[in-house]
Amino acid sequence: MTGDWTKSAWRSKPRIQMPDYPDQGKLDRVQNQLAMSPPLVFAGEVRQLRNELAKVCEGKAFLLQGGDCAESFQEYNADSIRDTFRVLLQMAIVLTFGAKRPIVKIGRMAGQFAKPRSSSVETVDDVELPSYRGDMINDIEFSESSRIPDPERMLTAYSQSAATLNLLRAFSHGGYADITRVHTWNLEFTEKSDSEKYHQIANRITDALEFMEAAGVNAEKLNTLRQVDFYTSHEALLLEYEEMLSRVDSLTGDIIAGSGHFIWIGDRTRQPDGAHVEFCRGVQNPLGIKCGPSITPEDLKVLLEKLNPQNEAGRITLIARFGNNKVADYLPNLIKAVKEAGANVIWSCDPMHGNTEKSSSGYKTRRFENVLGEVHQFFDVHHDEGTIPGGVHFEMTGKDVTECTGGLSAVSDEDLGDRYHTVCDPRLNSSQALELAFLVSEELASRISRNNGPNKVRAA
Ligand code: PEP
Ligand code: CO
Repeated sequence: MTGDWTKSAWRSKPRIQMPDYPDQGKLDRVQNQLAMSPPLVFAGEVRQLRNELAKVCEGKAFLLQGGDCAESFQEYNADSIRDTFRVLLQMAIVLTFGAKRPIVKIGRMAGQFAKPRSSSVETVDDVELPSYRGDMINDIEFSESSRIPDPERMLTAYSQSAATLNLLRAFSHGGYADITRVHTWNLEFTEKSDSEKYHQIANRITDALEFMEAAGVNAEKLNTLRQVDFYTSHEALLLEYEEMLSRVDSLTGDIIAGSGHFIWIGDRTRQPDGAHVEFCRGVQNPLGIKCGPSITPEDLKVLLEKLNPQNEAGRITLIARFGNNKVADYLPNLIKAVKEAGANVIWSCDPMHGNTEKSSSGYKTRRFENVLGEVHQFFDVHHDEGTIPGGVHFEMTGKDVTECTGGLSAVSDEDLGDRYHTVCDPRLNSSQALELAFLVSEELASRISRNNGPNKVRAA
């Protein structure tokens, strides 16, 4: 399918948002070491995810993708991994109930260490330094030496990703993900939340679980109630790392990116003739394409043709991130382009990246109501166009941080300084993330009742 492609061909294409390493010898040594290391994910898992995403594409499953904006070497510990995983599971149950479909769960975890930046420099008190680009590239500390890109950081990112994945695999299959237990955590949330609406949804899930138990279906008997499939994802930004971890699938002879199950191309690096598109077109992993206000319908058609020439369902997820009140200006034209091309895609909504603002207290933040507003508009446009809203994509953490304002926990501008821990964009805290899942679930349930049946979508 990609006959003329090689894993290093991206090197002859224009590259942006990537570091220029000052020490070529060190870079070569690191690259060799990565090339010898085992891949983090395996071809069979990647194929399985593509199959699950093909179901999302047909409206038979729903996608939940979430996690840190940027993982950090500092915040890396078992508790952080567990807490984020746990909230994603909690959200998934609530969404399953509303969508009446399986939820495909993908973390922005175990590899999300490299960041594109809107400015290549950062200025503090008249001192200008290169921007921080994620822990895999340089250090967030504001000093000249910290900001020099260091290839050895790729090795730390690799080993942290491997350990994170190991723990996620253990949590997914070792009993931690038992549905009754996850639901108990949701009940604790709704009890604290003081919201009648969330109480009611949670009580209906309790009823459903009790009914299943009475009918003899429980976690002891059915492994699917005790175990989950959980996948990892990150932006494929640092191509030296991606190339060195790509591997041949021994079953098919195809190449897969061994760095994570799902990789995406960022809104700043999706130039059809650029290095990132060139690398991604040749690997068989499911791919995300971030679609912000600057993408044109023509560019999108070219990208779809390049990245999915066989038009396979499950290969491409278009992650729309326009901003609250901007969805109707951009999304319909892109949907039109996809329809004209007859392309199979998943439409997912990232209501985070178009809603970043500076708060009066000086912090970069996002308002819960804007995040929710964008999700609603995304669903509305798909309803009008007769297309399938296939998923949601959040920046979130399992910790009780104060980075986004609003929600039940009512974080205000003044509160932001209390627990503002992100190394990049502001994340929803566990309560805000779960609340959003309840609201999206409600939206999904109401769409289904309007369309008279779980699997019925309006004809295009
Ligand atoms: C991100 O997802 O962290 C990101 C940088 O997104 P985008 O490319 O859409 O700006
Ligand atoms: Co971000």
